[in-house]
Amino acid sequence: MIRVLTNDGLQKGAINKLTSLGFEVVNNHYDKDELGTALKEFDILVIRSATKVTADILDKAQGGKLKLIIRAGVGIDNIDVPYATQKGVVVKNTPNASSESVAELVIGHMFALARFIAISNCTMRDGQWNKKKYEGIELGGKTLGIVGMGRIGKALAKKAEALGMKVVYNDIFGKQDELSYEFLELDDLLKSSDFISLHVPYDKEKGSLIGKAQFDIMKDGVYLINCARGKVVEEAALLEALNNGKVAGAGIDVFEEEPTKNEALVNHPKVSVTPHIGAATKEAQERIGEEVVTTISNFVTNNLVAI
Ligand code: MLT
Repeated sequence: MIRVLTNDGLQKGAINKLTSLGFEVVNNHYDKDELGTALKEFDILVIRSATKVTADILDKAQGGKLKLIIRAGVGIDNIDVPYATQKGVVVKNTPNASSESVAELVIGHMFALARFIAISNCTMRDGQWNKKKYEGIELGGKTLGIVGMGRIGKALAKKAEALGMKVVYNDIFGKQDELSYEFLELDDLLKSSDFISLHVPYDKEKGSLIGKAQFDIMKDGVYLINCARGKVVEEAALLEALNNGKVAGAGIDVFEEEPTKNEALVNHPKVSVTPHIGAATKEAQERIGEEVVTTISNFVTNNLVAI
């Protein structure tokens, strides 16, 4: 029997489906000291963001059954992919499932900042009535710069356009001819956007994408949303930009360290925060579960002999 370990849990329907297809699913969490050895007994590992699959863990799993790791989510930065590949372990993710959910969260943060919804929730609970202070802005008519025009960027662009925003974008692969939105070089996008939303992975080699130099060229009073990866933005530079007024508001779902200990950022009055919940919707988790089942089924069909 093919054994699947779901180390960070998996949507119940997906577990039931895998079981009905004849897989043995073990829904258990092994911590980093136990995982490598435990993996010797599993063909397939499914993880979310909590489990880090390091070279050390892969070394400990050496000589076992492990053939496939699935990241139930988009980002695969918690897996040492080159090392896994070198060891003959295939790594897959579920890139299609959570785009709409992440895009909706970005829109939520934009409204929360533009209309002081996030801070009103804090100050009203504190007995304050800041009606005059909280004169906001409309999203309609503003320019949204999307950095990273993949699936999430495109889902966001559609929603933003429907709200009457002008969408411009930058992407590492350049202009996409099928898109009607304006393509801009990154610096031009940073200079001309009222709202900027980041949808790129963190590049370990290049480091953060947004630091002091990038904040310096942004419009005064810009809004920045990061629902991608924490390290894409230098938190110290962001705090400085919030404090000196360059940034009017920041919507932050992801942090340099998670769970974050950056109280200055979390408690900042111009910040709307969420605890890395971009994909945390019923719909996204269901789609992730379905994508995991399909990926496993296809993998097993295509590698019948090997497994
Ligand atoms: C992802 O990479 O899929 C998202 O950041 C969601 C998550 O990791 O929980």
